[in-house]
Amino acid sequence: MTRGPGVTAMFATCVPGLGPLVRRQLDELPGVSTTGAGFDGRADIVLFEAERDQRGATLELRTAEDVFVEVSRALRSDGDSPRPIAGRIWQPQRVQRALSIWAEEVRPLTASMTFRVIARVLTEKAFLRTDLRQQLDQAVRADRPRWRFADPARLEVWVSEYAAGRFVAGLRLSDAEMRQHGGRDTERRGALRPTVAAAMVQLAGPAGGTLLDPCCGAGTILAEARAAGWAAHGSDIDPGAVEIARRNVPGAQLRAGDARRLALPDGAAGACVSNLPFGRQYEVQGHSDGWLSAVLGEMARVTRPGGFVVLLAPAIARNAAPDSLRLRQRIPIRLLGTRTTIWAYHRG
Ligand SMILES: C[S@@+](CC[C@H](N)C(=O)[O-])C[C@H]1O[C@@H](n2cnc3c(N)ncnc32)[C@H](O)[C@@H]1O
Repeated sequence: MTRGPGVTAMFATCVPGLGPLVRRQLDELPGVSTTGAGFDGRADIVLFEAERDQRGATLELRTAEDVFVEVSRALRSDGDSPRPIAGRIWQPQRVQRALSIWAEEVRPLTASMTFRVIARVLTEKAFLRTDLRQQLDQAVRADRPRWRFADPARLEVWVSEYAAGRFVAGLRLSDAEMRQHGGRDTERRGALRPTVAAAMVQLAGPAGGTLLDPCCGAGTILAEARAAGWAAHGSDIDPGAVEIARRNVPGAQLRAGDARRLALPDGAAGACVSNLPFGRQYEVQGHSDGWLSAVLGEMARVTRPGGFVVLLAPAIARNAAPDSLRLRQRIPIRLLGTRTTIWAYHRG
């Protein structure tokens, strides 16, 4: 691969299904262009190049889980066994280059670093994922005898089979802060992954006025709404959830209430964004089809024409939404191995 001076090869991981959205956001950053994408069995992977002074901006992306500086790539077709793959990945000159970028973005290098290797493969037909991890671990130790294994480690070396037969390896630049977005002061079961909440808020369009989450739970969507510049309003049928959201999102307006009867005038919200109470953790009162029609009807009523209603739910029947809501995007995602979908409706 040839690239201009000052341009860094990098990659980002995100929740499965969010790859295209992360790709679009990266391409919108000046000095950043995406070069490919894939899926490694656990996460979507987006490959990109960034100019030196734009690397930091990619670490600010709220929809990505992690960002890496690329070390190298390898193909199964050049020899499909773990040792040669590890050898092609851990090329000392390339590693040195990636390490100097890690040092610029994360912290200065010390002679005795702690490290660990994470390996993901799409198939274990030719060899096991753990075999690749061990071989890469040995290649690292041979090159850097003073480094020690630790978990957690200062430096994480990742290798992912991001498309059948294609590996990309990198050093992790991000830390847990990237995907936790500051964390929640108070946890509550069923709370949403912040990167998914950020994607949903992103799909509601540019901030304009009030964003309402009428099933707000711990307030994850409201926190993202505030970060994006919205005035955040939340409600939940459970007063305990409202208390937790109040602690987690001090700037939001919150009240207890039923999403089937919203206490807002027509057109008062610029957008409604919500993780609906379906799935393993929550059940709705009454029949779920009737519940959904009532809630969608209320969301359509309080959202101003031109605004968006963005929902997370495994299924929404076409006739559950009123005529004023037009389905614009349907994004299947996987959360903790479970399939669900982000539905983005335009309020006509
Ligand atoms: C999946 S959780 C939301 C989780 C939230 N996004 C978070 O990150 O914590 C769904 C929420 O809907 C609430 N809920 C259930 N029925 C409701 C109703 N009729 N009106 C309002 N909220 C309701 C539940 O109390 C629960 O907090």
